[in-house]
Amino acid sequence: NSRQHQYRPGSPPGQTQLSSRTLSTRRELYERDFPLYKQPVEIGCFSLDSERRFFNDSRQLRYYVEPDRNPNFDLRDGYKERFKKRDDGVKEKLDHILRWIVANKSKLNSRTASACALDADFVTWRGHLTKLLTTPYETKEGWLLAVTRFRGTLYMSEVETETSRRERENRTDRHEEMMYWGYKFEQYTCADTVHSVPDPGGVVNTNEAFCTVVQTRLADHKLLFSGEVDCRDKDPNAPAPPGCYVELKTSAEICTPKQRSNFHRFKLLKWWAQSFLPGVPRVVAGFRDHEGVVVSMETFQISKISHLIKNEYNCWKPTVCMNFCCDFLSFVKRVVTEDSKSVVYLFSWEPRRDVTYSVYRDSQYSFLPDWFVEEMSS
Ligand code: A3P
Ligand code: MG
Ligand code: MG
Repeated sequence: NSRQHQYRPGSPPGQTQLSSRTLSTRRELYERDFPLYKQPVEIGCFSLDSERRFFNDSRQLRYYVEPDRNPNFDLRDGYKERFKKRDDGVKEKLDHILRWIVANKSKLNSRTASACALDADFVTWRGHLTKLLTTPYETKEGWLLAVTRFRGTLYMSEVETETSRRERENRTDRHEEMMYWGYKFEQYTCADTVHSVPDPGGVVNTNEAFCTVVQTRLADHKLLFSGEVDCRDKDPNAPAPPGCYVELKTSAEICTPKQRSNFHRFKLLKWWAQSFLPGVPRVVAGFRDHEGVVVSMETFQISKISHLIKNEYNCWKPTVCMNFCCDFLSFVKRVVTEDSKSVVYLFSWEPRRDVTYSVYRDSQYSFLPDWFVEEMSS
C-alpha cells in the first residue's frame, strides 16, 4: 500500500494526511522515490473524423515532416476562412473510449472467469491524468473528476468547473485565434500519408483526431487510458507505437532569461506530463513571435526534460507528480466502494485546498451510457 509512505516519521503535524476524507496536494508529501511506472503498451487506437464520427482504426494518423530550422510559418493564415472548430460545448465524457472498449471487448483480457470484467483498475483520458500529475504545482485552475465503479473498474471522467465554463464562454477573439495557431502548426508539419507532404492550403478541422489506447501500471494501479496523438515518425524503421509518436507544440519565442525560466517552470511541466504518460518520447516545438510567425524549431526528448530543469530554483519534480497521482488513485480506490453504474463520486480540487469528494445517485453526473452498460453485461 503506497499510502503508508505519506506518513513521514518526524514530519511536523500538518505535513501528513490528517483526514481520511480529504487528500493533501502539498508537494513536500510526495517527495519520495519515483513510483513504478511500467512502459506503456499500445493496445489499440481509434480515429474521429471531420464530423467527429468514431472509427476503430488509424485513418486519422498523420506523418511528421521535418521543416526548416527557421521555417517562417504564418500561423494566422486561414483564420477564420479555413477553420472548422469542434463544438467544445458538447461534452463527450468517456464515450469514445467506451466505444473502443465495446468494439474490442473480445480482445481484452479478462481478469476473472467473468467475461465482462476488464483487466484495468482505472479507465480514463490521458488528459485527466495530466491534470492529476500537475496538481501539486497548479496555482490557477481547479478540477472536478467524476468516478463510477462498474464491475470492479473505476471509470474517471472530468466535469467542467463553473470557472472553466465561464472562461470558455467568454474567450476573447485574440484567445480564440491563438488556440487556432497550435492546430495550424500541426497542418504545416504533418502529412496525411507516408509519402505525401503537408498541405497548408487545406482546412484546419479540430474535429479530426487520432487517439492511442494504452495499458500500463502505476505502482499497484492498472491503467487503461486513451490520448490524442498529433503524428508519427514516417520512418518505417521507427520504434513501434507509442515510441514512434511525436507531440507538436507551439510556444512564444524565448528572448530573456526570465522567459526561459518561465518556460522551464510552467510549460515544460505540462509538456512532460502529457507525453510521459502514454510513452511518447519527443515533443517538437515551434517558437513563434507575437504576430504568430514560427521563427525557430526545437526538439525535446521527454527523457531529458528533468535534466533540463535541474538548474531552476524550486522547480517541479517528476517524482512529486507521479507520487501525487498514485496516492490520488489509492484515495479513489478507498473511497469509491459502491459498484453501480448510476452512482458518481465527485472529486473536487481548488488551488491551495485539499482534494474533497461528495456522492451522487442517479444525478446529472452519471456518465456511463446505457449502451455501454448493456454491452458489458451481455
Ligand atoms: P499547442 O500545443 O501548440 O499549444 P495539443 O498540443 O495537446 O496537441 O493541442 C493542440 C492545440 O490545441 C494546442 O496547440 C492549442 O492551440 C490547443 N489547445 C489544447 N489544449 C488547450 C487548452 N487547454 N486551452 C486552449 N487551447 C488548447
Ligand atoms: Mg494534439
Ligand atoms: Mg500538440
